[in-house]
Amino acid sequence: IFAGPIQFLKSAPSLDHLPSPDVPEIAFAGRSNVGKSSLLNALTGRTSLARTSVTPGRTQELNFFDIGQPLKLRLVDMPGYGFAKAPKDMVRKWRYLVNDYLRGRQVLKRTLVLIDSRHGIKDVDREVFEMLDKAATSYRIVLTKTDKIKATELDAVYAAVGDEVRKRPAAHPDVISTSSEKGMGIAELRAAVIESI
Ligand code: GTP
Ligand code: MG
Repeated sequence: IFAGPIQFLKSAPSLDHLPSPDVPEIAFAGRSNVGKSSLLNALTGRTSLARTSVTPGRTQELNFFDIGQPLKLRLVDMPGYGFAKAPKDMVRKWRYLVNDYLRGRQVLKRTLVLIDSRHGIKDVDREVFEMLDKAATSYRIVLTKTDKIKATELDAVYAAVGDEVRKRPAAHPDVISTSSEKGMGIAELRAAVIESI
């Protein structure tokens, strides 16, 4: 389905701007700058569908992308969390938007929670895991930027992250390693997305 038409649908700055809930959705969540927008582009094979940036905090709204004609799937690029320099009221706004969307969206089939392979799981990520577990919202961990670390380091972080998520009730037990830059793990991620809808 990623070979067919793909288009940006809309940006939702708040929950009353969400598209009508009639198509399965897959959301991309994770800390600021972890590579959510880049992974969405890699997954769809488009270079600049979702806007990326070296500056954290690039994505500030929920961005919806329609996949397939007839429409089969909606990908949701989310604002990042854990961005230290963000103004306080902005952080609060993001938290409400992201949490409410993740908790209450009926058509949300799975959330991909991205973890930077160089940094591993941080406490802010654990807060998100906690929230998703409580809401019983299915999620799966995706390691990003694996081109930036050595194979031995990747093996270690992959094992550690796997051990941790397998203790989490709503998390998929298997972790996917990716590099949007090098295309690594993208085919596996596509298969995982298709399987989850
Ligand atoms: P926010 O929207 O600010 O939360 O960030 P984001 O998670 O959407 O990250 P984004 O995709 O904008 O990427 C952040 C930076 O990381 C950009 O400079 C990307 O080029 C870079 N980046 C993303 N994925 C990879 C990757 O797989 N490898 C490398 N080397 N760099 C990457
Ligand atoms: Mg982004």
